[in-house]
Amino acid sequence: MFENWFSSSITKIDFNMTKVISFISRKGGTGKTTNAINLATSLSSIGYKVMLVETDTNYTLISSRKLELFKRKEKEDVYFPVLASEDHRVAEEIEQLKASNAFDILIIDSAGKTTDSGIRELCLASDMIIITTSLTQNDLLVTFQTVKDLLPAKEIKPQLKLCILPNRIHSHTRMKTVKETLEDLEAEIIDTYVPQRKIYTTPSTIDAEKKYLNVANEIVKILK
Ligand SMILES: Nc1ncnc2c1ncn2[C@@H]1O[C@H](COP(=O)(O)OP(=O)(O)OP(=O)(O)O)[C@@H](O)[C@H]1O
Ligand SMILES: [Mg+2]
Repeated sequence: MFENWFSSSITKIDFNMTKVISFISRKGGTGKTTNAINLATSLSSIGYKVMLVETDTNYTLISSRKLELFKRKEKEDVYFPVLASEDHRVAEEIEQLKASNAFDILIIDSAGKTTDSGIRELCLASDMIIITTSLTQNDLLVTFQTVKDLLPAKEIKPQLKLCILPNRIHSHTRMKTVKETLEDLEAEIIDTYVPQRKIYTTPSTIDAEKKYLNVANEIVKILK
């Protein structure tokens, strides 16, 4: 009951052109793929035309989607598409997808090992960069460095939104502490966080996790 009320309170914003959200971080395992999937399924469930693109040549997303379709005995074209790309061609593919005007939002899951030039091109092709980070000392240090490295892209493209999404937050962590820890960074801290939860460890590439809708809503509000 409460969840129905909650999800129906999230309204779809009409963008007049395709928006591109890219998950980037210099460190592996910060939650890019987990959040890219959850964001894609959440936005698709609200009614956005979404495409999920992965540049990680492990092709985790495509494989997960294929496995899910196989288990459900269903065809791919029923759901939002998942595309496998690579660092050196993703920017060009984004431009083509934008020109086709077939999607409201493209969500790009980049690999932790992406090269500097790959990151630069992806930044310039994106409207919003989301850097996922936990609050471990090591993750925070890498997040500081990632933001520092991405700031020059904002000089070339001032409208680029550079955002931090606190991920794997434990129930005892106080958001005040999170904000104090991250406020020195020259990036917007998304006004929510993703808790450390079992439901996020093996996300579906089809079904939305209702508890993530609030996070998806905060992300889309920044895109406006
Ligand atoms: N909020 C969360 N709650 C619980 N587990 C999480 C959460 N976020 C990420 N994880 C787990 O942490 C691990 C790393 O997450 P994920 O694969 O999303 O990171 P990544 O940034 O995509 O890594 P890579 O750089 O290797 O692609 C996974 O096992 C995932 O299930
Ligand atoms: Mg990943």
